[in-house]
Amino acid sequence: MDKLLIAGGIPLSGEVAISGAKNAALPLLCAALLTKEPVTFTNVPHLNDIGTMLKLLAQMGVKVSRETSRICAGDAPKEVPLGDTVTLDASGLNNAVAPYEMVKTMRASILVLGPLLARAGEARVSLPGGCAIGARPVDQHIKGLTAMGAEVGVEQGYVHARATRLKGARLFTDMVTVTGTENLMMAACLAQGETVIENAAREPEVVDLANCLVAMGARISGAGGDVIRIQGVDALHGATHRIMPDRIETGTYLCAAAATGGAIRLTGASATSLDAVIDKLMDTGCDIVAERDAIRIKAPRRLAAVSIRTAPYPAFPTDMQAQFMAINAVADGTAVMRETIFENRFMHAVELIRLGADIKIDGNTAFVTGRPKLDGATVMATDLRASASLVIAGLVAQGETLIERIYHLDRGYEGLEKKLAALGADIRRVK
Ligand code: EPZ
Repeated sequence: MDKLLIAGGIPLSGEVAISGAKNAALPLLCAALLTKEPVTFTNVPHLNDIGTMLKLLAQMGVKVSRETSRICAGDAPKEVPLGDTVTLDASGLNNAVAPYEMVKTMRASILVLGPLLARAGEARVSLPGGCAIGARPVDQHIKGLTAMGAEVGVEQGYVHARATRLKGARLFTDMVTVTGTENLMMAACLAQGETVIENAAREPEVVDLANCLVAMGARISGAGGDVIRIQGVDALHGATHRIMPDRIETGTYLCAAAATGGAIRLTGASATSLDAVIDKLMDTGCDIVAERDAIRIKAPRRLAAVSIRTAPYPAFPTDMQAQFMAINAVADGTAVMRETIFENRFMHAVELIRLGADIKIDGNTAFVTGRPKLDGATVMATDLRASASLVIAGLVAQGETLIERIYHLDRGYEGLEKKLAALGADIRRVK
């Protein structure tokens, strides 16, 4: 199994391009199930999770075509992948089933449930199990579809849903759920009448999905707010949609530059979807300049510790918590970090402690006291964002850091070590 070997202590410098957003691409690919006409997506990140989703759609009878484009980044030895163009044609949809074998590798497969039910009147989707960061039930997805008139049951580990035609309804989710909002919004596009989703997720990925659905002929208003209205239509048509930049990938590279005392420029990035993160990075003492289509950061000699509390957008994203724990591990002062979204999202703390960090956990709160330095060691990745925090810590640590189980990284970061190498890091993949 591949590992990453990092020799730390080099301030990052230079420029790289940000990829399309994983968490926008996954629901968008599922939206193609809603129409018989071809839908084309550009700026699709070249990631394992995208590959899994395309395989899942193909086994349902969707025709998939994928073109990969690559560019040179600075004087990087090898080309850096930069976005695929994917065309999906679901006119031949003939198998409304998402099998356990595929869903178990990627929870986001649940996002086929709403579109399949709306388009085919039936769907059988394996219930995603728990994951490293929490139990992550999908009861709100099921509750919403039931309120829209579907018969939904769980049999032999599968969610089985049936509806001749979904009916518009007033939906209220007990907590803000991103994929829950996305699933119900997609289902409502072909329902009879109006659906109102209250307490909806406001994440930029939800807005990117709504924009694409509207381009396909859907009638949606209020996306980006906590009340979304969808007027159902009889059919949707084809469209072409460019996937938004990945704000979590952007935030991760900004943290890597901050932690190493570097100065970098990220092209194809959007600062508007990162206010809470940029705000906190400026509190650490970083200079950040937002350009029209790029972000520049310059780190101070030593960062100041910053406390954070995760919460739904536009508050501080849980998907950036681990990366900020890595920068607080070398900052000046003590940070209080509260995780309010997932009940088990501090797995990276014990690995950071192996690198010499001073972290104490009390329930959903971590107290991180910064140290002047970390020392390289062998550590293990437990989930996608935890692995990103170990990469950041490895870039700072003295000596070599070896990160095991990096398949987690490949699920969500396109060409990470190539991009970091383009920024001057001493990083390579080893067996
Ligand atoms: C999305 O997951 C993202 N994944 C996650 O990113 C992200 O961490 C999360 O939103 C929060 O921002 C994708 O978009 C593919 P939720 P999602 O439903 O939709 C509870 C990454 O690193 N809940 O908003 O699955 C749930 O357990 C990943 O890229 C229920 O109880 O998250 C959690 O505590 C990790 N019942 C909270 O709500 C439900 O039916 C928020 O979860 C649904 C959710």
